[in-house]
Amino acid sequence: MTQEYVIRINGEQVDPEDAKISILDHGFLFGDSIYEVVQTVDGKPFAWDEHFRRLQNSAKRLSMELPWTEEDIKEEVDFAVAAKTWDGESYVRLIITRGVGKIALLPDSCENPALIIIAKAIPLPGPKSDAGLTICLTKIRRNSRLAMDPGIKSGNYLNNVLAAIEARNAGADDALMLNETGHLTECSTSNIFIVKDGIVKTPSLASGILDGITRQNIIKFAAEENIRIDETELTVDDLTSADEIFMSGTIKGVVPVREIVGEASWRRPPGPVTERLHNLYKSKSGTV
Ligand code: PDD
Repeated sequence: MTQEYVIRINGEQVDPEDAKISILDHGFLFGDSIYEVVQTVDGKPFAWDEHFRRLQNSAKRLSMELPWTEEDIKEEVDFAVAAKTWDGESYVRLIITRGVGKIALLPDSCENPALIIIAKAIPLPGPKSDAGLTICLTKIRRNSRLAMDPGIKSGNYLNNVLAAIEARNAGADDALMLNETGHLTECSTSNIFIVKDGIVKTPSLASGILDGITRQNIIKFAAEENIRIDETELTVDDLTSADEIFMSGTIKGVVPVREIVGEASWRRPPGPVTERLHNLYKSKSGTV
């Protein structure tokens, strides 16, 4: 029988109905946790080194000491993927929580972080991945880098949840957020790119975004084909005068945007540069 999930907690595979974490875990109490989403290519986690480096960086930013080696964590991912009952590649969510402690903000009482792996099948790309998504430029702004740096991939996603709800209420598929100075940042779980007169641009890391691994790879693969991608500050005018807009992320790869609603409006069919980068990313990464 196909199981929807393979779940491992602290080195043990558990049935989904038994997959439980204490309510005294600071991951639950305070959103004090970090995570990564990785996808497999030929059964192996794609861009593992980059994802692991980002996980380590998130841990460091939270002053979280990891009691496992990279090999220990990779082995857990490999065990979860090996236990899959579905056909094809896997989505793997790797979560590390601060662990059980006293009800106090400081993590001093938390002795053992928990390592959780959730694997599941990768959903088939829907018709929207070709036709393009609609996004809403939300009123809610992305967290300031000086408050909750979006560069930390923590389990505290309330900023993104609020933006996603605002976008859904506006009838859009996803949210695009500005930072406090009114520059473009990113979508609720993806990075954003625009194309203008053949030049591809994406918000710089200084704009306050997650340093997306898909974004990094698109920039690298494009450079190998002599396609220039500028990382810079982008304004709402840049967005609404763009010829093409696309999003990037693990699992979704490169997906065109066809319409913007909300604080700004824009509508265009998916364009040739997006299609080229979509195909380039797929062929160079080997993702489905
Ligand atoms: N999201 N920005 C945000 C806020 C994200 O959560 C993600 C990833 C990205 C894209 O990063 P990457 O290319 O490394 O996947 C950008 C994952 C997929 C998620 O939370 O499900």
